[in-house]
Amino acid sequence: MIDRITIRKPDDWHLHVRDNDMMRACLPYTARNFGRAIFMPNLLPPVRTMAEGIAYRERAMAALPEGSTFQPLITCYLTDDTDPDDVERGFKEGVFTGVKLYPANATTNSAAGVTDFAKIERVLARMEKLGMRFLIHGEEVDPAIDVFDREAVFIERRLIPMTKNFPGLKIILEHLSSKIGVEYIRSAAPQVGASITPYHLQLNRTDWLGWGNKPYMYCMPVIKTEPDRLALRDAATSGDACFFLGTDSAPHSVAKKLAVVGAAGLFNAPVAIETYAQVFDEEGALDKLEAFASLNGPRHYGLPPNEETITLERQNWVAPEEMKVEGPEERALIYRGGEVIPWRVVS
Ligand code: NCD
Ligand code: ZN
Repeated sequence: MIDRITIRKPDDWHLHVRDNDMMRACLPYTARNFGRAIFMPNLLPPVRTMAEGIAYRERAMAALPEGSTFQPLITCYLTDDTDPDDVERGFKEGVFTGVKLYPANATTNSAAGVTDFAKIERVLARMEKLGMRFLIHGEEVDPAIDVFDREAVFIERRLIPMTKNFPGLKIILEHLSSKIGVEYIRSAAPQVGASITPYHLQLNRTDWLGWGNKPYMYCMPVIKTEPDRLALRDAATSGDACFFLGTDSAPHSVAKKLAVVGAAGLFNAPVAIETYAQVFDEEGALDKLEAFASLNGPRHYGLPPNEETITLERQNWVAPEEMKVEGPEERALIYRGGEVIPWRVVS
């Protein structure tokens, strides 16, 4: 039995730290174990221009603990009106690592997202030319489509045509959530890769809804069936280069999570790498953790892996229940709060 593992420092290829008080509260959890993270741009208002990207990166740097070497990677929120020249400047000046597509109204803070896919073609053509990465929340929001089928329909209707129209565009389908999605990624790699969250690896929809409605398991894309979960575990632990770590850690205040129309998103940064280690251990695949957490993501993004390492040990600890936040948001509950976690980061 393996009780201790050292891997290159991981990166988080999909993270929400929000802004201001919430960012100051939650960013240290990520900065402690990860070298870099892709910062999602779905703020209110979103990060839509190079100028907004520079300002957000400065606020993020100011929220980091003293002496931290953590690097925020900022992304541009795509709208119907995004200016390809601004995107190009943002990329060339090292402000934007990629551009993020939210179909309008697919998830938290996506109201300003894309409503007309014809309007974004000029931006996609420019990104293809520049070698800039395209990050996608891959869900079709047509009200005629069942919420559990949104990912599969998006792949058919939107993603496959985009890969054909822009064959040189390197894409990330984020927070992959279905067996159909896993099969698609295998067929579309290396042009398309996918990040996988800890909670899609752990939960099925019976956990979420079968024993009382658990708002703390509500996220987009929604948690799916047991066969979907098993396909995702198989994909993540395969070591295949097209699958990599992206926590989708997404803190919300308790009030927003428990409102009549509750916010989608789970705050998992305090237990993220430990949860992945547990999943890989359960699958007898600890030898593949480094590929998934620390190598495949940088390769898909065309970046070097981190030089530093982290060490995890088999050691029980209890996850904190909540995180205090200054100001009106007050507190956010932590995914797996109060649970015994069998792996711990020791250095
Ligand atoms: C995310 C959030 O809260 O910003 N919510 C979620 O359910 N995952 C947005 C997202 O990534 O969809
Ligand atoms: Zn997200």
